[in-house]
Amino acid sequence: MDRIRIVGGNKLNGTIPISGAKNAALPLMIAALLTDETLILDNVPRLADVAQLQRILGNHGVDIMSAGKRPGDHEYQGQTLHISAANIVDTTAPYELVSKMRASFWVIAPLLARMKEAKVSLPGGCAIGTRPVDLLIMALEKLGAEISIDGGYAVARAPTGLKGAEIDFPKVTVSGTHVALMAAALAKGTTIITGAACEPEIADVADCLNKMGAKISGAGTSRIVIEGVTKLHGARHTVLPDRIETGTYAMAVAMTGGDVQLEGARPELLQSALDVLVQAGATVTPNNQGIRVARNGAGISPVKVTTSPFPGFPTDLQAQLMALMTSAKGTSQITETIFENRFMHVQELARLGARISLDGETATIEGTSTLRGAPVMATDLRASVSLVIAALAAEGETTVNRVYHLDRGFERLEEKLSACGATIERISG
Ligand code: UD1
Repeated sequence: MDRIRIVGGNKLNGTIPISGAKNAALPLMIAALLTDETLILDNVPRLADVAQLQRILGNHGVDIMSAGKRPGDHEYQGQTLHISAANIVDTTAPYELVSKMRASFWVIAPLLARMKEAKVSLPGGCAIGTRPVDLLIMALEKLGAEISIDGGYAVARAPTGLKGAEIDFPKVTVSGTHVALMAAALAKGTTIITGAACEPEIADVADCLNKMGAKISGAGTSRIVIEGVTKLHGARHTVLPDRIETGTYAMAVAMTGGDVQLEGARPELLQSALDVLVQAGATVTPNNQGIRVARNGAGISPVKVTTSPFPGFPTDLQAQLMALMTSAKGTSQITETIFENRFMHVQELARLGARISLDGETATIEGTSTLRGAPVMATDLRASVSLVIAALAAEGETTVNRVYHLDRGFERLEEKLSACGATIERISG
């Protein structure tokens, strides 16, 4: 298994290109199941999760062609995928495939909408809390699906097709909103979703669905209206930049000090996180090409932050902010309200010398100036990158084990950081 070795202490200076958003690319690829024509997606990040979803879609009969390099392409540019679900040959998504990536459960929506049936393995437990799918099932049942649970599978049928309905989510759910949106696009009549997630990736998917002929308005707000259509067609869409990758590198610069241009980043996708970085003492300057983040001289100030759905501070940046606060001049507090159990990084950060205590959903972090390198273990995607951030500022050498978690969500992490002066390398095997 690969490991990442980091020797801390270098400032970051230079340019980091921001990749396409994983959390938009995955549902966009799944949306290709809604049409028998080709969906072309540009700026798809090269990530393990994307490759895994390619395998899952392939099992349904989807052909995916990855376009080769074009003149003038930059090595960091995302890939272009041509996705064709002309013939869906299998409406079952088996346990072996779905258990590796939760988001693959979402194929249930387009399969049901287009093929009137789907049998999809329940995703099972997950390291960051129970993460149930009850609200996804509720939304599909509202649209007229009959769903039973059999042998660990959700078996869904809609023999006469889905019908528009009112879906009110009692809790903000990104997965529930994606599923409701995709299913309602091909349902008969009007669907109104209230309590919808407002995350930018939802608006990006709705944008793409509209290019495919869907009639969706209000995506990006908590009330989305969908006029169902009988058929969707092919389209071309560019995946929006990854706000979590952007925030992660911004925190890394705030941690080490230095001055980095985050190329292609869009500030409006993560304003709440940028505001916190400014409070913490970083200088954040949006410009035409992206966002410039710097911290020179001044130390890191402590902050008090609570995660919440968009436009609040994202749970996917909670671990990274905690890493940054381990070096603050004073005591910080971070409260996690989206996922229970999302504090696995605390134990590992402690191995580097961080002083963090937990009380329910709140972590209290006493800043210290003496992080020291150590062997640590990646536990989930965002937790593992928080260890990288801490290691970049720690004295001496850190090895991060189980880096396959990082490869799920961060494209060429070690290349991007070493290009800015970090001492970081992958050790294979
Ligand atoms: C997505 C993101 C993930 C991010 C999360 C919150 C993708 C691929 N993943 O995950 O990176 O951390 O949004 O911004 O886009 N819930 C239920 N019942 C359900 C569904 C969800 O109770 O049927 C709960 C979850 O347990 C959690 C909360 O709702 O406590 C939010 O979950 P949700 O927004 O659905 O997260 P994901 O879509 O899984």
